[in-house]
Amino acid sequence: MEQSAKPVAIITGASSGIGEATARVLGRAGYRVVLAARRLDRLQALEQEIRAAGGEALSVETDVSDLASLQNLVARTLEAYGRIDLLFNNAGFGRFKWLEELDPAKDIAGQIDVNLTGVIQLTGMVLPTMIQQKRGHIVNMASMAGYVATPTYTVYAATKHGLRGFTDALRREVGVWGVRVSALYPGGVSTEFGSHTEAKRLTGITTPKALLLSAEDVGNWVLRLARGRRSRNVPLPGVAWFGIWLNRFFPGLNDWIIERTFTRPERGL
Ligand SMILES: NC(=O)c1ccc[n+]([C@@H]2O[C@H](COP(=O)([O-])OP(=O)(O)OC[C@H]3O[C@@H](n4cnc5c(N)ncnc54)[C@H](OP(=O)(O)O)[C@@H]3O)[C@@H](O)[C@H]2O)c1
Repeated sequence: MEQSAKPVAIITGASSGIGEATARVLGRAGYRVVLAARRLDRLQALEQEIRAAGGEALSVETDVSDLASLQNLVARTLEAYGRIDLLFNNAGFGRFKWLEELDPAKDIAGQIDVNLTGVIQLTGMVLPTMIQQKRGHIVNMASMAGYVATPTYTVYAATKHGLRGFTDALRREVGVWGVRVSALYPGGVSTEFGSHTEAKRLTGITTPKALLLSAEDVGNWVLRLARGRRSRNVPLPGVAWFGIWLNRFFPGLNDWIIERTFTRPERGL
């Protein structure tokens, strides 16, 4: 085990998009980053890049929907570094189709396994170390769909709403041990995410360019939270609070708008 004062961060979904960008941000900020995802070749290329820039990184091939793979990730991290200061639960995907078109295993169970169950299981495995350290931070990657649910996002929204409940309950459970828990709720982020959604319709809602975030914007938020910013649930960009407010206080109006502008025309009604 390496003895070092440098903090250690596990990042799931580090092979592309937000996870990859966050690994660079944290690597530059002095974190020793553990890169987890299924595509090992991509993780290793990123590891080399971070090392070449003077940082420390470790690649661990991980499928977050597999319990043994998660256990291996935690064991490898502790073996290499002996501590875990930050867990960024970021791996996830969305399949944006009508509910009756979603494949029960690949699309429904698959999204729940990766976006929700995997997060809960990995967090449970990391917590004993953080509680023992009396220090740690868990950042969950939710989505605007964790506040505002839209057509074709049924299962995805269920997983991201689930993450919000998990995040709030856990924060109140482990805060006394010095462990902090937060979640990020971005709208659109420019990544490979859209190429995996299999969305064919307008209802695969697109974000106006002015509101589109970069993966690095989100990575910088992870660093801000890790450095002690006292935010619990963080919608991004900040203007998204308006949509949350509208949905919370005028849900009937939101139903009406969405049914008429998206669902009916798409269904040919
Ligand atoms: N992009 C957006 O507009 C947006 C908006 C709000 C929230 N989000 C959330 O942000 C997170 C990251 O998405 P992204 O935009 O960066 O998309 P992305 O570029 O497609 O990255 C997704 C990452 O998740 C990993 N992943 C998927 N299934 C996995 C599994 N079973 N085990 C381990 N890793 C797995 C992928 O790695 P491998 O394929 O190599 O395993 C990849 O590294 C997701 O949770 C997503 O829901 C994205």
